[in-house]
Amino acid sequence: MTGGAGFIGSHLVDHLLAMGKEVVVLDNFSTGRKEYLEGSLAQVVNIDLTSDVSTLLPHFKGVDTVFHLAANADVRFGWEHPERDVEQNVVVTSRIAEAASMAGVSDFVFSSTGSVYGEAVIVPTPEDVPIPVQTSLYAASKISAESFLAAYATAGKFKATIFRFVSVLGPRYSHGHVFDFVKQLKANPKALHILGDGKQRKSYMHVDDCIAALLEIRGDTSYGVYNLGAPTYCMVDDSAGWIVDELGLDPIITHAGGERGWIGDNPFILLDVSRAKDRGWETKKSIEQSVRDTVRWISENTWIL
Ligand SMILES: NC(=O)c1ccc[n+]([C@@H]2O[C@H](COP(=O)([O-])OP(=O)(O)OC[C@H]3O[C@@H](n4cnc5c(N)ncnc54)[C@H](O)[C@@H]3O)[C@@H](O)[C@H]2O)c1
Repeated sequence: MTGGAGFIGSHLVDHLLAMGKEVVVLDNFSTGRKEYLEGSLAQVVNIDLTSDVSTLLPHFKGVDTVFHLAANADVRFGWEHPERDVEQNVVVTSRIAEAASMAGVSDFVFSSTGSVYGEAVIVPTPEDVPIPVQTSLYAASKISAESFLAAYATAGKFKATIFRFVSVLGPRYSHGHVFDFVKQLKANPKALHILGDGKQRKSYMHVDDCIAALLEIRGDTSYGVYNLGAPTYCMVDDSAGWIVDELGLDPIITHAGGERGWIGDNPFILLDVSRAKDRGWETKKSIEQSVRDTVRWISENTWIL
């Protein structure tokens, strides 16, 4: 697993080990945390995945399934470092794909994003909409990475399963709006500033539901793409309401204004998840539960702030 020290990856490591699998984690701890793997039975290799294929290859020998989760997962600050998405998300994916292919890996699972739909013209958005206009460097890099994997899969190098998730919430969450809001409120319990007008409509998903899909869903063909997310959405203001309620606060809430919180923020994200549902998967936790669960975990683990 690449990115196994990260938010989602570390949960996946825990589940795979609980299933009795042998797990090798490749991570450079750029955003990953040693704390998430403390006491873990996974073999952990501290490696920068931008390394060339010959350096990566030995770590893929004897591996059945690659879960490729390592990435620059930040959407908002993409324009501050325009090469990072290309290097961390496109180049790394092409090298991991090549190493996996050379090592004879049979299954390749990739964490893509619902951001690839940009400001979607069809909502709920199905997987097979015409290739949308990209609104962030992050999404542009993820759709490019998907294309590399599609080429490997159709060439028969391995079976590739692509998951396009909405924003994921839950324990160990360390970026995104819930994290930002809790951080603001811990610093000043009397004020909360929200980017945009707070009316942005967003679908979220609990990390436990995300992991269940990564473990359970595989297509019948060599290449499959699956949306993952809650079947509903909330407004950012709703989420802010649950967060302040969970923290027992009553801050003055201000909004920056505008339909979008930042360049590339999509005002409405709701994915059509019927393809994943047809595979027997659906979310078990509501968006409200996911937000509240995240707030509780951050409150109990304030070192993360
Ligand atoms: N969290 C979400 O809401 C969300 C939503 C959609 C898609 N995703 C995707 O899911 C995956 C996991 O996201 P996350 O939220 O757990 O992010 P994260 O930042 O917590 O985890 C990413 C991990 O990859 C590692 N990494 C990054 N670049 C590396 C490199 N060059 N070499 C080695 N290791 C490297 C980091 O140290 C970290 O452990 C990412 O691919 C992300 O794009 C996440």
